[in-house]
Amino acid sequence: MKKQQLGQGLEVSAVGLGCMGLSHAYGKPTAEGEAVRLIRDAVQLGCTFFDTAECYGTPDDPHQNEVLVGRALAPYRDRVVIGTKFGLTFDLEDGKVNHDLVPDARPEAIRRSVEGSLRRLGTDYIDIYYQHRQDPNVPVEVVAEVMRDLIREGKIRAWGLSEVGEDVIRRAHAVCPVTAVQNRFSMMARWYEKLFPTLEELGIGLVAFSPLANGLLSCAYRDDSAFEKDGSDYRAIMPQFSPEAMEQNQGLLHLVDELAAAHDATPAQISLAWMICKKPWIAPIPGTRKELRLRENLGAADIELAADEVAAIDTALDGICMSEVFGGSVVKKAS
Ligand SMILES: NC(=O)c1ccc[n+]([C@@H]2O[C@H](COP(=O)([O-])OP(=O)(O)OC[C@H]3O[C@@H](n4cnc5c(N)ncnc54)[C@H](OP(=O)(O)O)[C@@H]3O)[C@@H](O)[C@H]2O)c1
Repeated sequence: MKKQQLGQGLEVSAVGLGCMGLSHAYGKPTAEGEAVRLIRDAVQLGCTFFDTAECYGTPDDPHQNEVLVGRALAPYRDRVVIGTKFGLTFDLEDGKVNHDLVPDARPEAIRRSVEGSLRRLGTDYIDIYYQHRQDPNVPVEVVAEVMRDLIREGKIRAWGLSEVGEDVIRRAHAVCPVTAVQNRFSMMARWYEKLFPTLEELGIGLVAFSPLANGLLSCAYRDDSAFEKDGSDYRAIMPQFSPEAMEQNQGLLHLVDELAAAHDATPAQISLAWMICKKPWIAPIPGTRKELRLRENLGAADIELAADEVAAIDTALDGICMSEVFGGSVVKKAS
């Protein structure tokens, strides 16, 4: 598969696999054997970039996703890039579908986290270790110093930051060079395009999470009826899937459908190809629990969109009315 270049020389397949939904936030967890098979199928299809986090888990095991990913990738460890994240837990007592996020980036907490992730992943190094959210009580410089030490100790090879803006990126990078920023980015969530000059200047990659706007851009969902309403599926409360939003998004879905037909591709593939072809340092990590969709999403790497076509899509997106898109769970204020 075609490759993209993140910062510090880290090369990854142009499309990665976000593994979160196998355990968390998209309905009942996938059975372990099935999840392991899906991740291994991705390797066979040329995917070398896998995303997980310490806090992605099931009601029975709050860290299950790392265990799955580690087990699935053990036979291929030296050929894949594993990204995981630290510094966040969910407030499971808050009674919400999308639980509030509780940040903790104290150095001693990071030290505990890295040991836990290494153990669960069954590896002695993490390829890229992201701070999941900023902790208002711990300056990013302090976190960057811990990352510098972990790189020296060989426990992590590179580090990154998730859901951050320019100021945090510059401060972090000045202490220990950042390899990638993992932010929300899709045709519906383009607010981080303003970071592109900074990322280009500093040589930092963008790992795009929720690149399909949580599935909406696949054009496979026409309402929210497919989502479990027992609190296990965040999509049931995501604004882009409400009946009104579906009306508001007709123009967007029509655009993606038309582009897909013109390229003999699918809407999901066009949505991913659009960002891969924008910059050689953007790598989307779509999530899926289904083998056919995995093939489809990875196939986006084969679609070439010329620079003028990407620009024309941007112009069309600028002019289209669309609904609000899920922007993430609330990060709790520090006490
Ligand atoms: N850093 C962060 O804070 C953060 C936050 C959220 C996510 N992430 C990472 O980013 C990854 C991807 O984000 P995401 O899962 O939130 O959103 P996404 O990739 O935009 O969308 C995933 C959803 O789309 C559906 N889907 C995927 N491919 C499809 C296709 N070809 N056709 C139809 N439906 C399709 C999936 O359903 P099925 O499973 O049923 O196919 C799933 O519900 C996660 O797995 C996680 O690793 C990071």
